[in-house]
Amino acid sequence: MLSIIAAMAKNNVIGKNGRIPWHISEDYINFSKKTKGHPVIMGRKTHESISGFQNLKGWDKNSEEKTLIPKTLHKLLPGRTNIIVTRQLDYKVPGGIVVNSIEKAVEKAKRHAGSEEVFIIGGAELYKLTIDMVDKVYITLIDEEVEGDVFFPEFVDKFDLKEENKRVVSVNNKEIRYNFKIYGKSKE
Ligand SMILES: NC(=O)c1ccc[n+]([C@@H]2O[C@H](COP(=O)([O-])OP(=O)(O)OC[C@H]3O[C@@H](n4cnc5c(N)ncnc54)[C@H](OP(=O)(O)O)[C@@H]3O)[C@@H](O)[C@H]2O)c1
Repeated sequence: MLSIIAAMAKNNVIGKNGRIPWHISEDYINFSKKTKGHPVIMGRKTHESISGFQNLKGWDKNSEEKTLIPKTLHKLLPGRTNIIVTRQLDYKVPGGIVVNSIEKAVEKAKRHAGSEEVFIIGGAELYKLTIDMVDKVYITLIDEEVEGDVFFPEFVDKFDLKEENKRVVSVNNKEIRYNFKIYGKSKE
């Protein structure tokens, strides 16, 4: 089974300047619980975001000079086969699997541990590319409009809501409401 997992704001924002523009620990724990032991497929920019490349001096997210980044700085999500999708033919991630198409990513994922459920973990380009391919969508919906530059695609008309779990957390005396939602593909 192929699934998407994402966290998005009410206005579909999922990221800003190469980062996720909120920090909700419970959502991170939920993401880890759901994806641990399964192959995860991500776009090159999400991999670099996980690696913290935005914090590197002189790093330009639009530069093609990715090979200048020291190999030791690439970070992988532990306990999961990390598959990175890029069009760059010379892109290397030590310990990870680099492929040049989403089809190859899914094919590789099927051969690894936990492949009964394979997760697309972002970002916006990868979600858009796979939303019509997946059976299940795990969305953490943050009940706020958030400023950002990348968005989750519209999808609810093709999926049915199967489960939800409304949560509220207080961060710096401000309440953040969010909802763990699980959608399954509608039967046509
Ligand atoms: N809220 C969430 O749940 C969540 C989850 C993940 C990420 N994010 C956020 O999303 C943002 C990153 O998303 P993004 O859309 O900018 O980038 P992305 O989807 O992570 O990666 C885009 C890259 O993937 C590669 N790619 C895309 N389509 C391809 C194809 N058909 N064949 C081969 N390679 C392909 C290209 O790499 P090359 O340019 O190297 O060719 C492209 O630049 C960040 O802000 C991140 O924090 C949010």
